Amino acid sequence: MTIENIESVLKESRLFPPPAEFSAEAHIGSMEAYKEMHRRSLEEPEAFWREVSDELEWFEDWHTLVDDSEKPFFKWFLGGRLNACHNAVDRHAVGAMANKAAIVWEGEPGDTRVLTYRDLHREVQRFANTLKSLGIQKGDTVAIYLPMIPELAVAVLACARIGAVHSVIFAGFSADSIRDRVLDAKSKMVITGDGGWRRGKVLDLKSIVDEGVEGCDCIEHVLVVRRDEFGEAFPCEMKDGRDVWYHEAAAEVDAFCPCVSLDSEDLLFLLYTSGSTGKPKGIMHTVGGYSLYTYLTAKYVFDLKPEDVYWCTADVGWITGHSYILYGPLQNGATVVMYEGAPNAPDPSRFWKIVEKHRVSVFYTAPTAIRAFMKWGDEWLEDADLGSLRLLGSVGEPINPEAWMWYHEKIGGGRCPIVDTWWQTETGGILITPLPGVTPTKPGSATLPFFGVDAAILNAAGEEVSAGLLAIRRPWPSILRGVWGDPERYQKTYWCNWDGEFYFPGDGARRDDDGYIWVVGRVDDVVNVSGHRIGTAELESVFVEHPSVAESAVIGVPHEVKGQGLVAFVLLRGKDAEGSDELRAELNALVEKRIGKFARPERILFSADLPKTRSGKIMRRLLRDIATGQALGNVTTLADPSVIDSLKAKYTD
Ligand code: WT7
Repeated sequence: MTIENIESVLKESRLFPPPAEFSAEAHIGSMEAYKEMHRRSLEEPEAFWREVSDELEWFEDWHTLVDDSEKPFFKWFLGGRLNACHNAVDRHAVGAMANKAAIVWEGEPGDTRVLTYRDLHREVQRFANTLKSLGIQKGDTVAIYLPMIPELAVAVLACARIGAVHSVIFAGFSADSIRDRVLDAKSKMVITGDGGWRRGKVLDLKSIVDEGVEGCDCIEHVLVVRRDEFGEAFPCEMKDGRDVWYHEAAAEVDAFCPCVSLDSEDLLFLLYTSGSTGKPKGIMHTVGGYSLYTYLTAKYVFDLKPEDVYWCTADVGWITGHSYILYGPLQNGATVVMYEGAPNAPDPSRFWKIVEKHRVSVFYTAPTAIRAFMKWGDEWLEDADLGSLRLLGSVGEPINPEAWMWYHEKIGGGRCPIVDTWWQTETGGILITPLPGVTPTKPGSATLPFFGVDAAILNAAGEEVSAGLLAIRRPWPSILRGVWGDPERYQKTYWCNWDGEFYFPGDGARRDDDGYIWVVGRVDDVVNVSGHRIGTAELESVFVEHPSVAESAVIGVPHEVKGQGLVAFVLLRGKDAEGSDELRAELNALVEKRIGKFARPERILFSADLPKTRSGKIMRRLLRDIATGQALGNVTTLADPSVIDSLKAKYTD
């Protein structure tokens, strides 16, 4: 969160109660009802979760709610057997629901496809059988690197159907990032495509995958989906014996593929995310807890009704897309809009034209997108009829009150509640959020905990304070089950504080007089750029790979649209080495190659030295002060105070 955001949030006192008409129709319509359900979820968890879990279909009922004997390695819904794809698809593909639209897809060029639940059921079975025909079995990990086309949803659900573990890699990641993830997860297959549209250009995914899986012995096949625009494939090379066209393989398989019955604690997916050390971690989620929690949060936070048209603008490559494009809404039998391209393609009215065309009623996006629209100007809204909207959501970073108000007035027409949802890749689903028919909202506050969530704000000593570290007192069903291949990292990252009694998400927060929680941003070395997590250590290790670089320090700075941007301080080898635009370009290219374009810093500053303590630790705090033009904090611990002046002069250059 930016300094400006913190200031504007601290001044915020406006209160927006849900409209009475909304509450009257909502699944939960009063604060008393919420409080009673929340109380029950904590005090009588067995009964609460039993009731809720009856809303899904289980092949076998669970007998034990939670096993914490190996804390913090929790197990939920023991003895239960189910299948996430069954609950998301099969359950709705019978009777009256079968012909309801499950996915309403729009490509960037304007092509559209609608898959009913029956269509989705058919497509998923065919995809699942294709995976099986290529040797994929229960427990195998499958990497998925696809654009936002319906086959992305189908591929994910097909994995879930046969008990294969999906590991979706956002299609903006580089070949190197694909390789890291494929090797770490030991994926046997990558599913990719011949192309996808992004801002008028075709993404050449296949060659990126080719480069990424080069030399990865675990990979047996690359399955290539044809985007099928106008029936013609984008040109791409197929490697004999390894690469398979999906449409060809799919033509050979059976139409019928049953869902396998999985244990609640069988792995559903891995999703890699950045932390404060160099290497991304594979966050593990299992079938039972994740299914139930995403189902329940989608139902109540988005107040999903049969007639809703729900659109979450995230990419399936991130957790938001997993939980709230696919599993959450589909388990609720919702109609989900999926859009392939950029918000400003061909111009910044695109989102609003989609809302109007498909009569979107529930819309979920990120503050960075809202700020981009504010910047592009209100004229792009003028021609669109946004009257179908009834509920808005925000996720990914703290929303500044200015953006909240714009969203409320310009998009919501002053009548739609806004749910500001706080959660993480690790939490699987939304933990802190208003309920739209219940909670009077305040611009910038994620407000109150969801059912089953016991949130606290603590200081380092574990005392409750009004401003400090966000902490969650007990596990909830969709808590990560660990970091793939590194149980110690799981324990150290999330459970090292407060004697292991609280989960530590890495965020700072405060609580106001009404008990509302205001999450203010990360307290670790993770930067939130446009709602995407980038570890500063990850970037620093990229820079030091360059032969001219001795050391680097990367920090997050406020950014008008992205929320935070990255600034890199780079120390060159050799006493008199000077930076140049050329070197800057080389470093940017290196970031693009190792991580992806989206991780490129706003600025790279070459410096003769970095501010260090006498014990040699880089003082990032001072770098942040320089970059934000603030008065410098305590510099007495600096080994060489003159470093600061020269850096300051450079920064303001
Ligand atoms: C981090 C998680 C959850 C899906 C998208 C990002 C920040 C997320 C909010 C919010 C304040 C938020 C936190 C969190 N964050 N939502 N509503 N208010 N901060 O998932 O990449 O796992 O990042 O995003 O700092 O820890 P992620």
